[in-house]
Amino acid sequence: ARDIRIAPSLLSADFARLGEEVRAIEAATADLVHFDVMDNHYVPNLTIGPMVCEAVRRHTTLPIDVHLMVEPVDALVPLFAKAGASIITFHPEASRHVDRTLALIREQGCQAGLVFNPATPLDWATHVMDKLDMILIMSVNPGFGGQQFIEATLPKLREARQRIDAHAARGGRPIRLEVDGGVKADNIARIARAGADTFVAGSAVFGAPDPDGGYRGVIARLRE
Ligand code: DX5
Ligand code: ZN
Repeated sequence: ARDIRIAPSLLSADFARLGEEVRAIEAATADLVHFDVMDNHYVPNLTIGPMVCEAVRRHTTLPIDVHLMVEPVDALVPLFAKAGASIITFHPEASRHVDRTLALIREQGCQAGLVFNPATPLDWATHVMDKLDMILIMSVNPGFGGQQFIEATLPKLREARQRIDAHAARGGRPIRLEVDGGVKADNIARIARAGADTFVAGSAVFGAPDPDGGYRGVIARLRE
C-alpha cells in the first residue's frame, strides 16, 4: 500500500475562523493544508494570498500545499515561500517559462509541482520530471469547490502514475501524485487504485456533519 496523504482544502473552510479551522483539521489528522489561490484572471474567482498564508502558518505545523491558480505565476513565488509555503504548484500554461518557474520555486526552498487541468496533456511534464516533487491532476475545472468529479481523470491518473514510476525506475526522485476536485469517501478508493497518493478534499471535509464525527470522522473514512 502507498503512503497516503489527505489534504483538506481551505476553500471550503469558514474564512472568518481560519485559524480555528486549520487547528481543527490538524487535530483531525490531516497530512497537508491545501491552500487555493485564485486571481480572477486565470480562474473566474478570487480567494486568498500570501498574507493569509502567513497568518495560517502561525496556526499549524502541517506543510502548506499552495495551489496557484494565477497568471502570471513568478512574482508570487517568493512571497509564498516567505509566507511559509512548503509546496508550490502552478498550471504550466499560466507560466511563460515553466522550467524557470520550477527552478525559482526550488531556489526559494519549496517543493515544486505542476497542475494539469482536465484537458491539459501530461506532456508538459516530460522534460522537467527531474524538477518536480508533485504532479497535481485536476479532477474538476479549477475555480470552485463542490463540483462533480470528472471520470476521465481516472485514465489520466493511471498515465501519470506510469510516468512517475518509470521516472523513479530510472533513478529519478520520487514524485507525489495528487488529485484535486470532487474527491469523496465514495469515490476515493477508485481514485487511489488509479495511482493517486495525495488527496485534496474541500467540501467533503469541511461539509462533514458533526453527528458523523465531523472532520476527524470524514478524514478517517477517506483514509480507509
Ligand atoms: C478547485 C480547487 C480545489 C477545491 C476542491 O479549483 O483547486 O482545491 O477546493 O474542492 P472540492 O473537494 O469540494 O471539490
Ligand atoms: Zn486546489
